[in-house]
Amino acid sequence: MKGFAGKVVVITGAGSGIGRALALELARSGAKLAISDLDTEGLAETERLVHQIGAPVKADRLNVTEREAFLLYADEVKAHYGVVHQIYNNAGIAYNGDVEDTTFKDLERVMDVDFWGVVNGTKAFLPYLIESGDGHVINVSSLFGIFSVPGQAAYNAAKFAVRGFTEALRQEMLLHKRPVAVTCVHPGGIKTGIARNATHAEGIDAQSHAETMEVFEKRALRMSPDRAAEIILTAVQKKQARVLVGADAKLLDIIVRITGSGYQRVFATVGSKLIPR
Ligand SMILES: NC(=O)c1ccc[n+]([C@@H]2O[C@H](COP(=O)([O-])OP(=O)(O)OC[C@H]3O[C@@H](n4cnc5c(N)ncnc54)[C@H](O)[C@@H]3O)[C@@H](O)[C@H]2O)c1
Repeated sequence: MKGFAGKVVVITGAGSGIGRALALELARSGAKLAISDLDTEGLAETERLVHQIGAPVKADRLNVTEREAFLLYADEVKAHYGVVHQIYNNAGIAYNGDVEDTTFKDLERVMDVDFWGVVNGTKAFLPYLIESGDGHVINVSSLFGIFSVPGQAAYNAAKFAVRGFTEALRQEMLLHKRPVAVTCVHPGGIKTGIARNATHAEGIDAQSHAETMEVFEKRALRMSPDRAAEIILTAVQKKQARVLVGADAKLLDIIVRITGSGYQRVFATVGSKLIPR
């Protein structure tokens, strides 16, 4: 794809799924990569694939919840490449459980990765992105950052928070004439390991959780990560404020706009048959 040649791009959660697909497409497009993940095996595989393409790559184990480590990592990437242009705050986890059954600890764990991980990455790299004169923050929210469903309060809260944070940041960059574009990404169902790796509230039986996730994966996660990466990068090229990835994301966004809060009544009945709980 055009527009990425020579750009230094940082991708969190690059050991799998959308993060890996972004890394490979950016590598093919001539970018210089700084990839990270908590999962070192998955990360090593992405690094191997990037090497095959022949793009420069710096691969590091990074837990996005560890703020101090993230700040040091930003300094390291800047020292390594001399400049940083883009960060894709992509790392994320899924969790299922009703509010009544979810511990504070689980709520905080999901917020730590899915929201604070994005904040840590944005804050750590923002000074360098501004300094580059052509920066871009790409934060991955979700379709679940546009509407809520039963059983997803923790994930919904984190993804709505990412959206709020990202939309405010975009306006600040415009207001203060900073050379940094900001894009909020809302994927619909993408065929990755996210559902399989999801954890659940203690009260949910592990076997039934696994079965529900399998059904959810088959029914709802349809688009390939490669296609999702293409759509995201096209939006990045255009410096779009928001990107809805997939027909499901586009359709549900319209339904929520039309129905306002009315969608909640529908989803609490019909939706609960489709969305795992
Ligand atoms: N797949 C979908 O249908 C879908 C839909 C909407 C939004 N998303 C979002 O897209 C992003 C990517 O998800 P995916 O579908 O590719 O899932 P995935 O599970 O394939 O990839 C997520 C990656 O994040 C890493 N990760 C998890 N916790 C981490 C941490 N604390 N620090 C660093 N890395 C960590 C995992 O090891 C994994 O490699 C996530 O933010 C997810 O919420 C996915």
